[in-house]
Amino acid sequence: MIEPDFILKSYSKTLQNGSFTWSSPSNIALVKYWGKKEHQIPENPSISFTLNDCKTITTLSFSKKEDNDDFSFEVYLDGENKEGFKPKIETFFKRIEAYLPFLKDYHFKIETSNTFPHSSGIASSASGMSTLASCLMSIEKELNPEIIDEYFIQKASFLARLGSGSACRSLEGDLVVWGKHEKIDKSSDLFGVKYPFEVHQNFKNYQDTILLVDKGEKQVSSTLGHNLMHNHPFAQERFKQAHKNLSSLIGVFNNGDLKAFIDIVESEALTLHAMMMTSMPYFILMKPNTLEIINKIWAFREKTNSNVCFTLDAGANVHVLFPEAESELVNEFIKNELVAYCQNGHYICDRIGFGAKQL
Ligand code: PMV
Repeated sequence: MIEPDFILKSYSKTLQNGSFTWSSPSNIALVKYWGKKEHQIPENPSISFTLNDCKTITTLSFSKKEDNDDFSFEVYLDGENKEGFKPKIETFFKRIEAYLPFLKDYHFKIETSNTFPHSSGIASSASGMSTLASCLMSIEKELNPEIIDEYFIQKASFLARLGSGSACRSLEGDLVVWGKHEKIDKSSDLFGVKYPFEVHQNFKNYQDTILLVDKGEKQVSSTLGHNLMHNHPFAQERFKQAHKNLSSLIGVFNNGDLKAFIDIVESEALTLHAMMMTSMPYFILMKPNTLEIINKIWAFREKTNSNVCFTLDAGANVHVLFPEAESELVNEFIKNELVAYCQNGHYICDRIGFGAKQL
């Protein structure tokens, strides 16, 4: 699939008004996307677990307007008008206009809410953008009912990518690859694809408990962080390493080797943060409690031979990953030893899920 395939020549139907509601989850990368080219093209392939409970629910209402000069929309979060969200959505609309030529024909009301607290430090851009992209695709399907499911989901992912790169991995589950990888035939830089190979029972219903170490706004946006990978002294090696780690994970997902999984996932998390620390300007998003938690996890693993491990996104919060079979053991450990490092004792229990749903 190449970009022109996402531009439909004409629509067979007309539409005055309507509304669609979708929910779409967040996702957590195992092999990280960090560094991009123009138009949100990733420098390296990534793979993520789709989450189940951390999601955004959006209702997109639309009505035909007189003119088609400009974008026209209003945004609400939990019923409250959010002028502050408009520039990001305006940028998104500009980026996707060529692929959805009806955008300027309608006035949109975007009503959104998250199942996780807005100020939790959990980025809502992946769930938010994938939900909005799904709603927009529902309009396109109404205008052109011949659209098939595969096109719908690929284009939703393609559009979501233009909103926020990692958002393109939230449409499906339970594992999604984004970025061209030589061993994954249908993988693409333009959209996420469902991981196509066998996945061992050990990885089914994998658990992700998110420890909220720091709920504040990030000091460095991921856009800025991605840009610092241009001319980064270790960038080329890092991009090669991501390809290699994804190749290794294919074997690991097949044979269920949890120890090898841990080595790759934790190394990816630390490498992501190492890239931040070695950028110019350099920055650190981990907090002292992030490191306390990591050390506790390592000590617990040493003591119990558990398969619990951690990963990080572009922030201080820690995603604690573990097989479902270890839930009881690890939940006890989290309550007894890790919650103390969370801001106000807050954490979110999640697990892998299956992507966007129309409600
Ligand atoms: O989608 P963005 O631009 O917010 O970047 C996300 C980057 C990481 O979360 C750090 C890694 C990833 O692959 O999700």
